[in-house]
Amino acid sequence: MNMDDSVELARLLRGFGLAEAPTADEADIIHINTCSVRKKAEEKFFSFLGVQSIRKRKTGAPLIGVSGCTAELMDIAEGRPEIDYVIGSRRPADYADRIRAAVESKYPEIADAQIATHAAPPEGPVSSFQTVIRGCTNCCTYCMVPRARGPEASVPPEIAVREAEVRIAEGAREIILLGQDVLAYGEDLTPRLHLLDVLRAVHALPGLRRLRFVTSHPRRIDEDFLRGLAELPKVCEHFHIPFQSGDDEILKRMNRGYTRAEYISKIELIRQYFPDAAITADVIVGFPGETDEQFDNTARLVEAIRPDQLYAFKYSTRPGTPAAEWEDDIPRALKEARLARLIDMENAISRELNRSLIGSEQEVMVTVKIESGRYKGRTRTNKITDFRTDRELGPGDVATVKISGATPHALQGKCL
Ligand code: 5AD
Ligand code: SF4
Repeated sequence: MNMDDSVELARLLRGFGLAEAPTADEADIIHINTCSVRKKAEEKFFSFLGVQSIRKRKTGAPLIGVSGCTAELMDIAEGRPEIDYVIGSRRPADYADRIRAAVESKYPEIADAQIATHAAPPEGPVSSFQTVIRGCTNCCTYCMVPRARGPEASVPPEIAVREAEVRIAEGAREIILLGQDVLAYGEDLTPRLHLLDVLRAVHALPGLRRLRFVTSHPRRIDEDFLRGLAELPKVCEHFHIPFQSGDDEILKRMNRGYTRAEYISKIELIRQYFPDAAITADVIVGFPGETDEQFDNTARLVEAIRPDQLYAFKYSTRPGTPAAEWEDDIPRALKEARLARLIDMENAISRELNRSLIGSEQEVMVTVKIESGRYKGRTRTNKITDFRTDRELGPGDVATVKISGATPHALQGKCL
């Protein structure tokens, strides 16, 4: 979602007649879109800001603007005169005007410039994120998203369709509909709608080849949804469905709203409808009070589910969350050891799953040309695939690839 917001901000800045600098150190204007979901993201922001502030003290450039969740949660400009403007993680009606005013006050020539209108439509990514629901009301106890992004707000389907049309005109052939809890889509609209409604509306657009959605909360997966998906051939067989922990006591303290057994039954249900679906998930290690046995339950869940990819994170305390009341008592070294164990397990699982695809034929959509005759793309199950062909292909083209090699994170093959 942060990446989608950045693309939108970049579009706005380009609209002012600005162009991307080759490197951050050469830019006259730097807009930093922050993320605060984990402490590490926040630390990266402060260190990047530090580097740019030194340049600013020496040279006067750049203009520095900040947006996103960190800016929403704290008074970021307080005591930091190097920051010229701040907007939050939401979209106030005047944010374009505020950015424009800041840019023009430092670079008045921009206000005077005759901004050339684009001769050709701007080129966007072939695979494009598109936010359809912002915010979250789930209140998982470790998570600051509900505070940083506020309650759920769905984008009405007619607006989502218009936004998708713009992306398709810019070159998108795949759209990934986004929401922190994307299956909560439409609950806040009148009349009440479902994610299937916006999926169907975007699915109907000519020019679109593939449609995806993230993130699925396990609680919200049901048969009606899966049956609906089965009728939409452009929707790819991939579910990103975080479990966060495999231990019932920890899940309860995380306020996730499901047990380990319920999570497993949701995965079984998905596999009943889509036997070849890829399952990816997020997991947190070192949640306050997590014992060795509780961590073992998580490791056993990974073995039981055998996800295609696993995104494992060390717990970090986020200020103002319910879990921040509990002591972050798992030593860093133990968190790291648990993380390493999950990553090792997952590498072995992903390697086996990917190797089992050797000899199969996969539909691959090209994302980039690596060199003449060599392309990179993704399968419908979202696996990165590097393949060779004599045909001349471009981003967005679809090829049938016979898989001949596999690593934990990628497939290799030859176009049929
Ligand atoms: N500490 C560690 N990981 C976290 N996540 C969210 N909050 C925290 C936290 N406080 C992880 C979850 C979520 C992903 C986006 O980030 O696994 O699914
Ligand atoms: Fe955070 Fe939970 Fe909402 Fe995901 S579902 S954004 S983890 S509160």
